[in-house]
Order: sequence, then C-alpha cells, then structure tokens
Amino acid sequence: LLLLAVAFTYGLPSSKKRFDGNQVLRILPKSSDEILKIVDMGKKYNVDIWNIPKSLNSTLDIHVDAHNLKEFVAELKSLGTNYMTWIEDLQKLIENENVHSSHVKSRAAASFSLSHYHSNFQISNHLDAVALSSRYATVHTAGHSVQGRAIKYLKVSSGGSKKAIIIDGGIHAREWISTAVVMYLIDQLAMNPDNNPEITSMLQKFDWYLLPVMNPDGYEYSRTNNRMWRKNRATSHSITGTCTGVDLNRNFGFHWNPAIGGSRDECEETFAGTKAFSEPESRAVGHLMQSIRGQAIAYLNLHSYGQLWLWPWGYTTSLPSDLADLKHMAGRGAAAIYPSHHAHYTTGGDATDLYPAAGGADDFAKGGAGIKYSYTVELRDTGRHGFVLPASTIIPSGEETLKGIIAFASELYAYE
Ligand code: ARG
Ligand code: ZN
Repeated sequence: LLLLAVAFTYGLPSSKKRFDGNQVLRILPKSSDEILKIVDMGKKYNVDIWNIPKSLNSTLDIHVDAHNLKEFVAELKSLGTNYMTWIEDLQKLIENENVHSSHVKSRAAASFSLSHYHSNFQISNHLDAVALSSRYATVHTAGHSVQGRAIKYLKVSSGGSKKAIIIDGGIHAREWISTAVVMYLIDQLAMNPDNNPEITSMLQKFDWYLLPVMNPDGYEYSRTNNRMWRKNRATSHSITGTCTGVDLNRNFGFHWNPAIGGSRDECEETFAGTKAFSEPESRAVGHLMQSIRGQAIAYLNLHSYGQLWLWPWGYTTSLPSDLADLKHMAGRGAAAIYPSHHAHYTTGGDATDLYPAAGGADDFAKGGAGIKYSYTVELRDTGRHGFVLPASTIIPSGEETLKGIIAFASELYAYE
C-alpha cells in the first residue's frame, strides 16, 4: 500500500536513459553531396543529428551512441571525411548540467532559483507565485497536453489594451535553455527587480504573453527518462505501437506538409503528426495566437541551439513581401544581444538560411494568425554544449536575450 501511495504521489520509478561514452562528432563537410552521404550512412547507426549545415561553412554535428562509435567512425574515414570529437562523453555533460551554478533568487519567490533548471511542476507553481506577487501579471491556461498537463502562460500588462508580444519556450523538449530564458524574462518583466526604466517602458508600450513550456509532457520526459527527447508524448498515432511523439514545430496549420522538412513516419524525430494541428499542444498555442488576433504584433518562438534570429517562411524558400521590415527588426534584436556577453547572433530566413520545414509555429503566427513580426530564435550555444547547456549560463543567456528583446520591441514601437 505504501508503495502504491508513493507511486501515485511521485509517479512510478522510471528507468533513465544513460549516455555513457556517447559522443558528438563535428564534421566540416566539403560538399552537399558529402552531407547527404553521411546523413544516409548515419541511419544505419541510428544517429541523432544535432545540427545540419545549410551553407558549407557551418558544421555537421552528430550524436552517436557509444556502441556504434567504432563502426560509424570507420565508415566516416572510408568516406574520406574529416571529423573531430566535439563532445567526449555526453553522460558527463548531462551530470554536470545543473551543478556549479549559484542560486539567483526570483523576486517573486526566493526559493525559486532562476539559475537552475526546474520540473514542469515547479515552473507551473512559480507562475502562480509570480501572478500573486506582481501587480501586472495574470496566469492563464492555453490548453492541455496529451497527458493532461496545463499549458500555462503569464500575461504581463500595465492595463488598457496595447499591441502584444508573444514569447514561448520549450516547444522542443530537450531545448531546456529556451524554457529557462522565458522564466528569466518573466521575472524581469513581471517583477522588474532592478527597477530598470527600460522594463517600465516595455510595459507602457506592449502587453506581454510569456509561455515557458509549450510541450510539458516532452519536457518532463526529457528530465526523467531521456534527456535528448524532442517531440511531445502522443501515442495515439502509433501504427506499430512502438513509437511516441509528434514534432510540434511541424504540426502547426499553415501550409502543413510532412514532405517539407518533416516526416509521416511516427518513429522519426520530425514526425509532423497525422494532420495539421493534430496535437493539443500546438492547437493550444495556435488558439492563443488567434485569440489576440489584431492585437499581437510580434511572436518569438524560442529554441536552442545555434544563436540565430530567423524570419519566415519555413515552408517555402519564397520570402514574405514585408521582408525588409522583418529583417530590420531582426537585425536590431540580434545586434543588441551581443554587448552583454559577446554572444554573436546571425540573422536569416528559416528555409533560406537554415533548412525548409513546414508546420512551424512561426509560419502559423505570421500566415495563420496575422502576426507580422514572427520569428524563430535559436538561443545559445553554437554547439560546444549543444542542448546540454550548463545551468551557469542561464542568467547570462537571459540577460542578453532580454537586451535583444528590449531593443527589438523599442524599434518596433517607434516604427509601427
Ligand atoms: N530548429 C527549428 C526546427 O527544426 C527551426 C525552425 C525554423 N522555422 C520553421 N518554420 N521551419 O523546428
Ligand atoms: Zn527546436
């Protein structure tokens, strides 16, 4: 009975996937043909592609399981490919992820450390705490995940009805820094702990919608079972009964098309779902965008990693007719990130500079919900730690992202 009670309260003990001896290899490809060959060869070894280069001065980063390493490397060599071991031991990186960081207290609740990664439960409670202690913040639920978790967001508003900026994180489970940065932004915007006049002005100019965990089931799963999980936790689409999860950033309903940068195969990391908005998580965020249609002027869909500020479209290499405006604001944001800690951000187009992928949240925001300034922002780093960014970098990432967003929003206000 005790065990049963424990199981109900804390969940059944789960086996956590280990990554001992797994490595991330970094390759500087010489041709696009070479990229295709390596990616194709990697399928045999079930590798996880962390970064795929669009232009040839970018790198191909591949996460390889320890037991496949020898053979994979031998095949790489036979292809004549130059590679370097980029991450020596992924498990070690994961074990150090949340340590070596000092406690930076939230202004709303001193027990909540902004400089650490947290469970969805802790985050959800903290949103309530912020709503209680902030004069400007209210907490709302956009919808529920496949497993029934609330997808919460804070609205931070000084009153009246202003143009709105929506910022979300955690669409991809393993991209923890995106969630942690939204938590930092929440503390700054809702609490203004340093009495920063720039923040006061941001609240006078805009209403802010801040949603830290779009994919709570995936996020939890990446904490308790598999640190490298990306998708949501939908099982209902499984034909074989073996694979779980839809890539939410392939599931939004604007020119949805699995054939463009996604997949119809439920076992793939980029499974686009069975139809546009088949997933409750993407539906919830899509509804939020629609519900403030006309009011929302900007949308930032935060990811990691790569240090990129990207404009639509993802579904096509054609460019929006207001590209000049989009570029101008992206440039302001990206440039303002740099001074704080010298993180260099590059601007570009989803499909033209990263890779084509349909069903993205940014495409829907712009094309489906009429939010003119819609972007994907890939946060730190450029691959040194990849998805496993040490918690000690949360605050610096938050500080510089805030600077970028303030510059972006100020220019937007002056311009629009
Ligand atoms: N890394 C992101 C992804 O793969 C990039 C998305 C860019 N946006 C887009 N609509 N394709 O989801
Ligand atoms: Zn992502």
